[in-house]
Amino acid sequence: MKTYKIAVIPGDGIGPEVINQGIKVIDTVSDNNDFKIKWESFDFGAERYLKTGELISEDELKELRKYDSIYLGALGDPRVKPGILEKGILLKLRVYFDQYVNLRPIRLLEGVETPLKNKSSKDIDFIVVRENTEDFYVGIGNRARIGSNKQTLDVLREIYKVKFDIDIEVEDSDIAYQIGLVSKKGSERIAEFAFEYAKKHNKNKVTSIDKANVLDSVYSLWRECITNIAKKYPNINNEFSFVDATAMWFVKAPESFQVVLCPNMFGDILTDLGAIIQGGLGLAPGGNINPNGISMFEPIHGSAPKYAGKNSANPIATIWAGALMLEELGETKASELVVNAIEAVLKKGNTLTNDLGGKATCSEMGDAINEEIG
Ligand code: NAD
Ligand code: IPM
Ligand code: MN
Repeated sequence: MKTYKIAVIPGDGIGPEVINQGIKVIDTVSDNNDFKIKWESFDFGAERYLKTGELISEDELKELRKYDSIYLGALGDPRVKPGILEKGILLKLRVYFDQYVNLRPIRLLEGVETPLKNKSSKDIDFIVVRENTEDFYVGIGNRARIGSNKQTLDVLREIYKVKFDIDIEVEDSDIAYQIGLVSKKGSERIAEFAFEYAKKHNKNKVTSIDKANVLDSVYSLWRECITNIAKKYPNINNEFSFVDATAMWFVKAPESFQVVLCPNMFGDILTDLGAIIQGGLGLAPGGNINPNGISMFEPIHGSAPKYAGKNSANPIATIWAGALMLEELGETKASELVVNAIEAVLKKGNTLTNDLGGKATCSEMGDAINEEIG
């Protein structure tokens, strides 16, 4: 029997609660579909960091290379300064494994209410392909005080290396800056992925997002690369849209989108908007994908600290992320079964968590989906 080794990072806040439901459901679907999952849990996150000061070491990253995939709850804790755990663990993993695609389906399942007036499941069904390693997420920036400053900043990637030597003369006020970086190779590969995805799924339009009217250095290169790749796909329309207008169109006409190609930061913001039009963060899954390497699956939402330990969070986003993982592993049938079971439970409407207007707990929702599969 085929056995997959999956590294589990439950993480912080509601992470452990929702990930347990995901594991439960995937175990059931694997039993019914002739494969096995061997789960191995890792305690990266706030508790360990507060005790030992450790985030994730090079050795631990290497250890994770032995797994077929990574399944993650969420990271972030109010006791730790914002960014330490998120950058030190989550973004570290995305970059270390060169998971350059962040794939986030925006799909209103049947039985779920959208806050958008007169829109239904057939109107809200598209995919966001978010670039996941570049842009304002490269993590280079600094503060500089009044006077002369010399700073070096490195971006070391598998596909390129960049070193900035910066001389800064500052007058009258201390400053801080953050550098956004877009590469030709990085933009081309994500564009290639988006157009291939469109082709494979019979979509005839890719909408590429940017703010080329203001951030013209980075996003003119972005546009150039996408335009070049698009030429190889004459049957797919290539359309550019500014991020501000796109936010408006997500609400006004979600049916106009098929594949939405985003730079990292705009993709982050737009997918929380996408999540709410598909019924809420409790329902929105994502995958960090390296098409030739180790991918990592997680809900779009974070650790929602105020709900931690209450068994009240909605586990569907995480269970659905598990289904995306099964798809990536090649277990397409099992993946579909999980999504269908989620949809069936939502359609019946008698097991709904708080965020969906019901009273069911996180584990009751997991059980209901499990029974639907069983
Ligand atoms: P969040 O996504 O954790 O929560 C925002 C709100 O969305 C919650 O207060 C809740 O009302 C709702 N929500 C989220 N998930 C839900 C679920 N499963 N069921 C029901 N309701 C849900 O965003 P935040 O409050 O801005 O961030 C909290 C922490 O999470 C921060 O430390 C942040 O950096 C981190 N974060 C981590 C990830 C990740 O690990 N991938 C993603 C986003 C935010
Ligand atoms: C997400 C999160 C992360 C991001 C944070 C926690 C680093 O918001 O996965 O959407 O910005 O990518
Ligand atoms: Mn986000």
